[in-house]
Amino acid sequence: MVKIEFLGHAGICVSTEQTKIVMDGWFTKNGAFDASWYQFPANHHYMEHDWSDLTAVIVSHEHMDHLDPEFLSCIPKEIPIYIPEYPSPNLFEKIKFLTKKEPNQLSLEKQHSIGDINCQIWTEESPMNQDSIWVFKSNEKSIINTVDSRVSISQIQSMIDYIGGNPNLLLAQCSGASWFPVVYTQYEPENKMKASEKKKESKLNYVWSITKTLRPEHLVINAGPPAFLDKEIFYANDDPIFPNPYTSKKWLLEKGYKNPVYAPMPGDLLDLEKNNYYENSNIRENFSWENTSDYLKEYAQKMQPHINSVKNRIDKIQNTSFHEKLQEYFEKMFNLNAYFNERINMTVFFDINGPDGGKWIVNFSKKPFFKKFEQDDHYDYKYSFHSKWLKRILYEKLPWEDFFLSLRLVSWRNPDIYNDHLLGLLKFNDEYATHAVEIFEKSISDETLTVTTTNGQKYEIAKFCPHAGASLETGIISEKQIECSLHHYVFDLETGKCINANCNLKTKKLINNLEW
Ligand code: FES
Repeated sequence: MVKIEFLGHAGICVSTEQTKIVMDGWFTKNGAFDASWYQFPANHHYMEHDWSDLTAVIVSHEHMDHLDPEFLSCIPKEIPIYIPEYPSPNLFEKIKFLTKKEPNQLSLEKQHSIGDINCQIWTEESPMNQDSIWVFKSNEKSIINTVDSRVSISQIQSMIDYIGGNPNLLLAQCSGASWFPVVYTQYEPENKMKASEKKKESKLNYVWSITKTLRPEHLVINAGPPAFLDKEIFYANDDPIFPNPYTSKKWLLEKGYKNPVYAPMPGDLLDLEKNNYYENSNIRENFSWENTSDYLKEYAQKMQPHINSVKNRIDKIQNTSFHEKLQEYFEKMFNLNAYFNERINMTVFFDINGPDGGKWIVNFSKKPFFKKFEQDDHYDYKYSFHSKWLKRILYEKLPWEDFFLSLRLVSWRNPDIYNDHLLGLLKFNDEYATHAVEIFEKSISDETLTVTTTNGQKYEIAKFCPHAGASLETGIISEKQIECSLHHYVFDLETGKCINANCNLKTKKLINNLEW
């Protein structure tokens, strides 16, 4: 037998007669990202559960809605915690720091056995995105959990080869784990809504595209959205980038998805042997994905004491002057990786309000520098937030990405393009991880490909996307542009310029198939 119990959000429990594994269980009443994210609907009862019969626990990546320190600390110490072997030690160190337990790192693209369940792990091809895909096999049943990773066509093929066919179950995330465009201020409300809708569509289209190739017997829309229960970010519950599983299921069915697809709730169970999905009727007495607004209001009230206690603790962190600390912090960061500094090539304005707040400029380039902001200083990017969060970052090592995901900031950028390397440097802040990205990006093959636009013009372009190396053979081509199908960067075929990010595609116009 192979059964999967859905534990809420991304959490699953995969079991056979001999083995029981919890992956990405998140049950704490303190939510995640400093109580900004909450499990939706609530699944806190799993924290009281007796987990002593577990064979292992898996943490797929370092986002706190997958890595619950409270849960990991309370399981018996003999139960191993498995993580993928990423280029950077960040995930290992984070678990060790938060739980005082050392996880076991499993090598990639090799088979491992956990009890009578075999598994193999893939990560996104570019080490810029440290997220993983887990493929489980047991008793001739197979499960692919893509978590929040983007998989390439060749990776999908190797998963199919590993399984020996199509999976019985595919778990895919349709809701965003992002702060763009939610906290960005450069848009009028209508344009912001359009940007959110576009992002949602691109995520759902990606899920649609992988189901076309993987053709799973069952599809489960897993992980998300979170509930935003803190008053200051409650508005984000309505942002389209966080579609709930019911909305995503409807979208897929309207597009023509034919196989069984589920919008799970905590306690639902899929029995792959019997081919049956059992809905947890208890939770459905008080909760429905179709109307969540009253539930969210009550839930917010109920969790307020927990949110307050997390925020009160942060308020009590001693204030110290930020200037020297920030200078030391960024100067250390400038020395991590010169390639990243050059690729970022922009100026960031930190506008910090609250006690000990201030305004600083950080320039990442060939000659990076840090200084106090002066009127008329030019900048391309702006982050504005309360000084208590800066204290968490500087004095308690809160990762930047965890802070950004909390949505407790406003941001602005001009030009309005995504700077992958800026986020990469901030989130890793680590020489191994940045070096791995540099090696990967410098080794992208220079093979070329001929593409034809919708009006018949031919271009010779680099075969692999300059962002993270996906093959552009599956790119979506319009009149003048090509859109990479992996992360949806769009390139102007005439100039090679990426219109929504900071990279360029090699391109040559061909006339009668000859270079022009
Ligand atoms: S690989 Fe990321 S957009 Fe192409």
